[in-house]
Amino acid sequence: MYLSKQKTFRAFTVLAFIVTFTMFLFGFTLRDPSLYFFKYAIRKSDSFFSNGQCGCRQCMTELEDDPWFTERFNLSVHPLLSRRNSLLTNDTYCWWQRLQDHKDPADFSEVVEKLFQVIPDNDKLYKDAGPERCRTCAVVGNSGNLKGSRYGPLIDSSDVIIRMNMAPTSGFEEDVGSRTTHHVMYPESAIDLDNTTILLLIPFKTLDLQWITSALTTGSIEETYVPVRSKIKANKNRVLIYSPAFFKYVHDTWLESHGRYPSTGFLSLLFAMHICDKVSVYGFGADRYGNWHHYWENNYHGGEFRKTGVHDADHENNVTLLLADKHKIYIFKGF
Ligand SMILES: *[C@@H]1O[C@H](CO)[C@@H](O)[C@H](O)[C@H]1NC(C)=O
Ligand SMILES: *[C@@H]1O[C@H](CO)[C@@H](O)[C@H](O)[C@H]1NC(C)=O
Ligand SMILES: *[C@@H]1O[C@H](CO)[C@@H](O)[C@H](O)[C@H]1NC(C)=O
Ligand SMILES: *[C@@H]1O[C@H](CO)[C@@H](O)[C@H](O)[C@H]1NC(C)=O
Repeated sequence: MYLSKQKTFRAFTVLAFIVTFTMFLFGFTLRDPSLYFFKYAIRKSDSFFSNGQCGCRQCMTELEDDPWFTERFNLSVHPLLSRRNSLLTNDTYCWWQRLQDHKDPADFSEVVEKLFQVIPDNDKLYKDAGPERCRTCAVVGNSGNLKGSRYGPLIDSSDVIIRMNMAPTSGFEEDVGSRTTHHVMYPESAIDLDNTTILLLIPFKTLDLQWITSALTTGSIEETYVPVRSKIKANKNRVLIYSPAFFKYVHDTWLESHGRYPSTGFLSLLFAMHICDKVSVYGFGADRYGNWHHYWENNYHGGEFRKTGVHDADHENNVTLLLADKHKIYIFKGF
């Protein structure tokens, strides 16, 4: 009696499982491709909708009924500094100068001119966008949640792979990958690069522009507010400068001026959103125990690492999650 009851129960469980699974499958086979077909048909047939978008299933620039996103996403703010856009508005210049109060900054336009005598004045290092292209970006943060994730191959399969600050790959390839197309840094976090990687400098002050000029040539600048590397190995022809105007746009528009300035991770994310059609995010946030540490370190900082005083990590996290909710970015949470 008891046995048969148990059998019935088991049979029921199996049946319920099959039904759920079938519904799940159906939901997918029916819903997804038809939607895709619908979108595709519209895109191909109606020129109003096909304004030079991409070959991914969803593109960053796609117009949607999402006022929150369209109000903020402004493709006419250029992410990189060039001679052409180096004339900052007074507002931008003053905001930028206040980030890391450095007394008596040198003349900005002279510094920019010297800089572009050393590095190429080229803001067209983007890959071509087009209706057939799906430009994928991997933004790789430094969180310990990458440890054991085995994301390496997935990260390496992206077109653009952005890493930041001291991040090493050697010895961690299985979890973080081995390719780097863009390495984001500032003088105080600089490391040597190989000559194929693009160095993307985030300048927080005029001195940082003087530093990169010097670090690639004479090595005469040895400190900012701390001692810094006077020389770095990097390919001079592959150096890009994050635009102060874009910096301010990220802070004002995306963070609504929360925190003193955005973190390197958040700045890199917005850069990626402006140059790629599909953006995936790895190694952001705490690990599964709530610890904040780098994947290459074993010392756990608890909360102190997160509260640096200048960034509003909670707000950045909220905006990042909201972007993922809206399928604008894909977050890989790690382990
Ligand atoms: C987008 O950025 C450009 C350049 O900074 C600015 O002139 C324009 O007003 C911005 N558009 C919106 C909708 O904010
Ligand atoms: C530039 O902006 C600052 C503050 O944003 C203001 O104090 C200053 O008067 C402005 N200068 C000019 C020339 O507009
Ligand atoms: C990059 O480095 C390799 C070897 O280290 C060298 O052969 C090559 O010429 C370099 N390329 C550039 C563009 O500097
Ligand atoms: C982030 O989102 C949480 C939950 O929605 C909210 O309680 C919190 O106030 C938000 N923080 C910021 C800084 O916006």
